[in-house]
Amino acid sequence: MVKKVTKAIFPVAGLGTRFLPATKSIPKEIMTLVDRPLIQYAIDEARAAGIKEFIFVTSRGKSALEDYFDSAPQLEAELRKKGKDDLLDILKTTTMDSGAIAYIRQQKPLGLGHAVWCARRLIGNEPFAVMLPDDVIAGDVPCLAQMVEAHAETGGNIVAAMEVPREKASAYGLLDVGEENGPLLSVKGMVEKPRPEDAPSNLAVIGRYILTPNIMKNLNRIKAGSGGEVQLTDAIAAEIAISDDVYGYRFRGHRFDCGSKAGFLQATVAFGLAREDLRDEFSEYIRSVAAQETAAE
Ligand code: G1P
Repeated sequence: MVKKVTKAIFPVAGLGTRFLPATKSIPKEIMTLVDRPLIQYAIDEARAAGIKEFIFVTSRGKSALEDYFDSAPQLEAELRKKGKDDLLDILKTTTMDSGAIAYIRQQKPLGLGHAVWCARRLIGNEPFAVMLPDDVIAGDVPCLAQMVEAHAETGGNIVAAMEVPREKASAYGLLDVGEENGPLLSVKGMVEKPRPEDAPSNLAVIGRYILTPNIMKNLNRIKAGSGGEVQLTDAIAAEIAISDDVYGYRFRGHRFDCGSKAGFLQATVAFGLAREDLRDEFSEYIRSVAAQETAAE
């Protein structure tokens, strides 16, 4: 039987330089999409997929993240006194069971693969998920839950996959795909940020992975790759040769690249419009802005 996935790694050690000056004093993952920090979307998605242990790979300057998932006795007491039960309920989504969350420091920015490897002792001999909070995915069934369901059937390693425009493909890990079986694709090769002429396809890896503990072993021995960094993509690609047990998964849902300003803005609009309490006023505003633009053309 395939072992259940109950642990997830959240690599959150990056400096977030694309969002300076904001990220001078707040971690990128705390930046808010409507009224929730980016990390909350990832945590909610993980919980919906049955994850019970949350492992954050952090770095200096990320203490706001730890505070975010801690209880806030003063604030809670104040809200209780005022009878603000709705707000207390919202706060509940941010607290974790004792021992459910762990923080590991990545001392040097040596790459995504290295960040994941930093959590190896907490993973032990179990399958695990990796979630990159920059990739926010909206959908009826959360992306990781779709992948966990597929994993229960296949076991092995599964990476989320999505077609991206060819001119943007070199910013991603790209898949060389063999057979397709519904949303599940067998992967023959994977390459991190290749030059356009070397791209095997424009089917990109998106930041959701379910991996076998063997990937940690591969991370032990692989050398720095693209950008001089230890790449998770390379460790998964190495697994193709060893076990031939690597799949791509075309998830259902809309992915926003919140690692870029344009993507973050798009997500803000989409999530704002999806919110019942904001929809009317916000859509009215967007329509008026669009009308002004058309008039100016
Ligand atoms: C990372 C991965 C890459 C993947 C991408 C998805 O790259 O290394 O394989 O395609 O996330 O968002 P990054 O965007 O951190 O450079």
